[in-house]
Amino acid sequence: MEIAQVLEQHDVRSARRYFRAHGRPDLSGLPGDRGLPVLGHSAAVLRDVHAFLDKQYARYGSVFSLHGPRADGVFLLGPQANELLLKNEDRLFSNFLAWDLTFANIFDNNVLERDFGGHKRHRKILQSAFRRPSIEGHIEIMDPLIRQGLGRLRAGHRQKMLPFIKRLLLDVGANVFLGENVEQEADKLNKAFVDCVAATADPFKLNIPFTPFVRGVKGQKVLQDYIFRNIERKRAAPGRDLFSELCQLTDEDDGSHFSDQEISDHIAFLLFAAHDTTTSALCSVLFAMAANPEWQERLIAEVDAIGVDTLTHDEIDRMSDTSLVIQEALRMHPPLVMMPRYSLREFEFQGQRIPANTPCVISSLFTHYMEEYWSEPRRFDPQRFAPGRAEDKQHFFQYIPFGGGAHKCLGLHFAQVQGKIFLYHFFRRYRVEKRARQRFKYNNIPLTFPTNGLPLRVVPR
Ligand code: HEM
Repeated sequence: MEIAQVLEQHDVRSARRYFRAHGRPDLSGLPGDRGLPVLGHSAAVLRDVHAFLDKQYARYGSVFSLHGPRADGVFLLGPQANELLLKNEDRLFSNFLAWDLTFANIFDNNVLERDFGGHKRHRKILQSAFRRPSIEGHIEIMDPLIRQGLGRLRAGHRQKMLPFIKRLLLDVGANVFLGENVEQEADKLNKAFVDCVAATADPFKLNIPFTPFVRGVKGQKVLQDYIFRNIERKRAAPGRDLFSELCQLTDEDDGSHFSDQEISDHIAFLLFAAHDTTTSALCSVLFAMAANPEWQERLIAEVDAIGVDTLTHDEIDRMSDTSLVIQEALRMHPPLVMMPRYSLREFEFQGQRIPANTPCVISSLFTHYMEEYWSEPRRFDPQRFAPGRAEDKQHFFQYIPFGGGAHKCLGLHFAQVQGKIFLYHFFRRYRVEKRARQRFKYNNIPLTFPTNGLPLRVVPR
């Protein structure tokens, strides 16, 4: 069977066999260097991917080879590269062959690593769970939980915001994604989920007891077991949570619906895709507000003008300054700074021939700082997204915190709504302050996170 067909049918075993049969591509004809002996570029990428990309771009231009202990590949930089890989019009790139190294045995069969027609079918069904009426149901669940959760902050104290946000979104996520009866099992499920996430970042993924990978595999079984035990109950008496919705969803054209296994795979991945990304975004926003008090005051004025205790979707829509701030925080600090794909055929890009079976990587982070598209890209300036200026509109693929094309983030709207609910209730009660010389210390791999837990002073208003 042709590889495109294997991927279309999501035949995982054959696709993995194909991947193993194709070793490292020959990239000797491409610009670039090999980096350090054995490590290649991995240390430089892990230390500071932004600096690495700037340096390689200055030396080699927008296409250059990338080398590491486990794989070699190619970086393609700029909006045109983003467009080529994300639109994937000629089915030139596979997601499965690019993402499987990260997700195998933990978040198997997820929608992001499905390809072509198979992906389209799953995405189409999943999309219905992210329409406005569904989001309105999620707001009803999230709003009171976030409002109450924020009451647990130690007002008047300097405290680490990252662990606080992580924990709060974990509790909220358990309720929105898994449902109303999760309380008795919440701690167990949260731990299982945290182990799964840690396993995806384990670079070795060996079957050795007590490694993050093996703990993740166990965590995956705990989550799956919970989902399987509750599917019948959810079908019989659905709530407004995502798990219930996935049990009811059908394809509008052919009436097909997800199998139990597919429901389990999708729920686990949605939890994963939602949690750390939104946590990362909220950390960036809070630091930006501490560093830019004039914008913090604008957000406070905005929430005061709305002035209700319980938010609805209509009120969330009115938070336009908050939208600008979130957009700018995601430009400067996209949670996912690189997106991988895998070429199935040889192709040409900007005069360079890239062989078939090459891991290809694009970077939102690099594109978000290109001076050709952004004025003073290192300056925090939310107004650049305002309708009058709309700096982000020069190229459709210059601003890609949520990806683009066929696999564009399904939870984009959900993430913005959740972020705004958090910021609304936060700024109704508090201001946030940093130390005079405090800078935003962060790492971008695997996701953008503050390295010091983000200590900030939370001041009651
Ligand atoms: C600020 C928060 C978020 C950011 C920055 C973000 C970013 C992204 C990016 C960059 C991709 C594309 C990856 C690629 O093409 O390789 C993606 C895909 C995806 N995201 Fe998000 N995400 C966020 C929140 C969420 C939330 C809250 C959910 C679910 C509730 C979610 C669900 C998904 C799913 C299901 C996909 C795969 C879509 C597909 O393959 O068709 N994300 N996200």
